Amino acid sequence: MKALILVGGFGTRLRPLTLSVPKPLVDFANKPMILHQIEALKAAGVDEVVLAINYQPEVQVMLSFLRDFETKIGIKITCSQETEPMGTAGPLALARDKLLDGSGEPFFVLNSDVISEYPLKQMIDFHKHHGGEASIMVTKVEEPSKYGVVVMEEETGLVQRFVEKPQIFVGNKINAGIYLLNPATLDRIQLRPTSIEKEIFPKIASECSLYAMVLPGFWMDIGQPRDYITGLRLYLDSLRRIAPSKLSKGTHVVGNVIIDASAHIGEGCLIGPDVSIGQGCVIEDGVRLSRCTIMRGVRIKRHSCVSGSIIGWHSTVGQWARVENMTVLGEDVHVSDEVYSNGGVVLPHKEIKTSILNPQIVM
Ligand code: GDD
Ligand code: MG
Repeated sequence: MKALILVGGFGTRLRPLTLSVPKPLVDFANKPMILHQIEALKAAGVDEVVLAINYQPEVQVMLSFLRDFETKIGIKITCSQETEPMGTAGPLALARDKLLDGSGEPFFVLNSDVISEYPLKQMIDFHKHHGGEASIMVTKVEEPSKYGVVVMEEETGLVQRFVEKPQIFVGNKINAGIYLLNPATLDRIQLRPTSIEKEIFPKIASECSLYAMVLPGFWMDIGQPRDYITGLRLYLDSLRRIAPSKLSKGTHVVGNVIIDASAHIGEGCLIGPDVSIGQGCVIEDGVRLSRCTIMRGVRIKRHSCVSGSIIGWHSTVGQWARVENMTVLGEDVHVSDEVYSNGGVVLPHKEIKTSILNPQIVM
């Protein structure tokens, strides 16, 4: 079975992290976002993933990074590269030959910036059961206007309307960016920039062949820092239910926390809730961490405090420092001792010697 992941775009809203790596390679809960998806696809029986990329320099970075995982996970990963942005449907036409393997089986399509429990096997069963051309996952949100809104028949899941970014209230179930499509859908898509949400789904819905399944469990679009931090909380909550052994335990741990086995935690620390600590990190004595992501290779020095923030790869936070309120440190940033950061967004390779008193970008 095949899958295509839409990995276009520049990841502007996740800067400064995306200044170091393409968005799909930004770590989430101690592994690159896209690996969460690739692993879930593999578990559902997918043997080849096509990455639909529209930004040329990223191809080599992505492929060389993912090479290792091809063998580790046991899945083939290829790229389909656009010369101009093809939208959310055009890339399917471009990758047509890769997606059609002659088996007539449906294939998955995923937006790359969403995180969930990926109940893909359930989706396959749902798809077989209704027998229509296409299935999409939907989830409920409070602010549906930012998304594609789906109006469906509750009992059967038959989609009556699909309205992308509606201006007026249509409903609160939205497209979660996870699709299972029959090869026939490819015949509807021309090789030109096309939106699957605006041009393809409304058409399939009008022919009564589009079905929606309500996504069990959590869902979050983690393409911006605030949602990324909320997404980590939801992800760890779900780990607590489905794989509690992956969470850390100990007198220094409060709530849901994951700590890579290679990280070193000092004496008298208080860590949690909703914290991830990556590979090779050193957390010195007396540190307090809550609602934050500490990426690979970071050192947090004695008695400092980090909350509601993301600390990028190989950065350091000085002793008695306080980092909070959606501070995002890019890769290799060094915060001096006793400095305070209130919402600082700091570009890679910077040194912060004076406090950042109000949210701002530090170039
Ligand atoms: N290859 C390629 N080429 N990928 C693209 C392109 C392109 O030209 N444009 C967008 N993408 C990818 C993005 O990287 C993302 O993974 C996906 O397509 C969706 O694009 P976004 O720009 O993130 O769209 P959105 O978040 O405004 O809305 C979409 O996602 C919502 C859920 O988060 C829509 O699918 C909505 O209907 C949906 O509710
Ligand atoms: Mg998005």
